[in-house]
Amino acid sequence: MNTLDGKVALVTGGAGGIGAAIAHRFAAAGARVVVADLDPAGETTAREIGGVFVRTDVTRLEDNLAAVRTAIERFGGLDVAVLNAGIGEHGSFVEEFRPEHYRDLVAVNLDGVVFGMHAALEAFTERGSGAILATSSLAGLSESPMNALYSATKHAVVGLIRSVAPLVIEQGITVNAVCPTFIDTPILGEAVPFIKDLGVAVLEPERVADVAELVLARGGTGQAWPVVPHGDPAPFAFGALPSIMSDPHHPVPEAIS
Ligand SMILES: NC(=O)c1ccc[n+]([C@@H]2O[C@H](COP(=O)([O-])OP(=O)(O)OC[C@H]3O[C@@H](n4cnc5c(N)ncnc54)[C@H](O)[C@@H]3O)[C@@H](O)[C@H]2O)c1
Repeated sequence: MNTLDGKVALVTGGAGGIGAAIAHRFAAAGARVVVADLDPAGETTAREIGGVFVRTDVTRLEDNLAAVRTAIERFGGLDVAVLNAGIGEHGSFVEEFRPEHYRDLVAVNLDGVVFGMHAALEAFTERGSGAILATSSLAGLSESPMNALYSATKHAVVGLIRSVAPLVIEQGITVNAVCPTFIDTPILGEAVPFIKDLGVAVLEPERVADVAELVLARGGTGQAWPVVPHGDPAPFAFGALPSIMSDPHHPVPEAIS
């Protein structure tokens, strides 16, 4: 069954890279797509897929609310919010800490997801259904000494989706993340050949779109899906840590893994 046919999707960071690949894939599956990006190149993505572009700075709550409003006004509602806009880390936290850069990383990679989630949840709660899919990173599941602050923001996104999922499961809303390894997009800048020289695979953005589509089709919630070169895509199996959620007064819904 095609879960995207006739649906309305918002894709932040949809001007290029992974976001554009997801926007194209969703449109090909029959979705109407709102491309939200700071970069006016999002206009081109939107034109290519018969969607709508809305200039959006995800670090601003009002912009996220306006992007969701655009989906409702232009397409009659919102079914899927892909919170994908992000920036990479430059320089080493240990050798050269730049507080402004840290603030930017948190503003785009974390605030952007929190604000986008808030805006989408308002629309979804009213409707009684909806799916949120955030782009975290493999650096959101493992240590990543090359970009420690980026990694911290991406871990935060994983914590966020896992924690919000149980709060909205009764409203028919799913909240998941994809966690890609290295993907050949502008965010990696000049690093692609160096990564490849290390023998590490760099995947095409369409691989993330494959997994994004699969996550939505599976319909689970609270899951973080690695996007890696090997094996069949599957949600990351978190270890059985002691959890306050195992408190019998706050049971974890069965659908949450
Ligand atoms: N490429 C990789 O190796 C990789 C791996 C794991 C996760 N990711 C994540 O995937 C997501 C997409 O990145 P990408 O690889 O496609 O890189 P990219 O640079 O091609 O795309 C990022 C997009 O986000 C947009 N953006 C940046 N700041 C914004 C803001 N304040 N408001 C709105 N839009 C903004 C950019 O204009 C751009 O279109 C990011 O969250 C990134 O952290 C990337």
